[in-house]
Amino acid sequence: MIRVKVPATTANMGPGYDVLGMALSQYSTFQCQEDDKISLSIKGLESEKLVNQDHEANLVVRSMNHLFKYVDKYPKGYKLEIINDIPLARGMGSSASAIVGGLLVANYLVGANLNQDEILKLATQIEGHPDNVAPALMGNIVLSTKAPDDQVIYHSIKPFDDLTCVIFIPDYDVSTSMSRAVLPQSISMADAVHTSGHLSLMLAGFMTGNKDLIGQTMVDRLHEPYRKSLIKNFDDFKASALEVGAFAFSLSGSGSTIIAYCDHDSAPHVKRAFEEVSQKYSISGTSKIIAPCSQGAVCEVV
Ligand code: HSE
Repeated sequence: MIRVKVPATTANMGPGYDVLGMALSQYSTFQCQEDDKISLSIKGLESEKLVNQDHEANLVVRSMNHLFKYVDKYPKGYKLEIINDIPLARGMGSSASAIVGGLLVANYLVGANLNQDEILKLATQIEGHPDNVAPALMGNIVLSTKAPDDQVIYHSIKPFDDLTCVIFIPDYDVSTSMSRAVLPQSISMADAVHTSGHLSLMLAGFMTGNKDLIGQTMVDRLHEPYRKSLIKNFDDFKASALEVGAFAFSLSGSGSTIIAYCDHDSAPHVKRAFEEVSQKYSISGTSKIIAPCSQGAVCEVV
């Protein structure tokens, strides 16, 4: 049997829309073994939202089928168990974890031996953009972009030692499709130049551990201004986090989770600040201190 543990991710990180993401230390697990027939069991967080879905509609199963078709190898059957621990439709990479988990168990099941770059290529074909699937697969912060022939060019950045995040996961969800639908079809040259400048300098900040530089440059003009209206009290959460020591703040992926970047000492204060805002405005949800994850997806044959 193969067991694959895949981390949650936060994508975009401000100005890195569709090209930047970071793995977080919260995981879903996918277990699979050959069988005579196909069977699927789903347990864990919000599993009630997935269990009644048609088998073929399940994203893990769809990702497995994508790989089987790509390598033209099909198992007779399999027993798949999904243990979910990543909230669904909250901007924490639940889809990416399902895709990466499905591809890695399928890779093992039919002995396809696809390497990391090929898995990333298939994952990006399914997801449409590489920013969540790349760190889910590789861990750390990953900058990635699509190239001709569906190849993905990427570069990993190890987060500096005392980088800690605080997330607020609202109980309400925001689907990625809804959150992409509010975005404009085109942007101005001024916004494009703003984005390339801010993203480049922010990456320099993450590479060198320069928190001031990250704080100055985690400013987005491609998606956050349009998506803010979908996120309750975005500006209040942001102001509260920066007030008590976070050096930067962004929407996580397409939301609804929001994320503050801080160090170990300020993290408990930021968590408390998030709790106070959520209580003040009656927004139910969970505040949590969460560390970046350096390892990415881990496969274990058991
Ligand atoms: N980059 C994606 C978005 C992440 O912001 O829509 C969510 O899948």
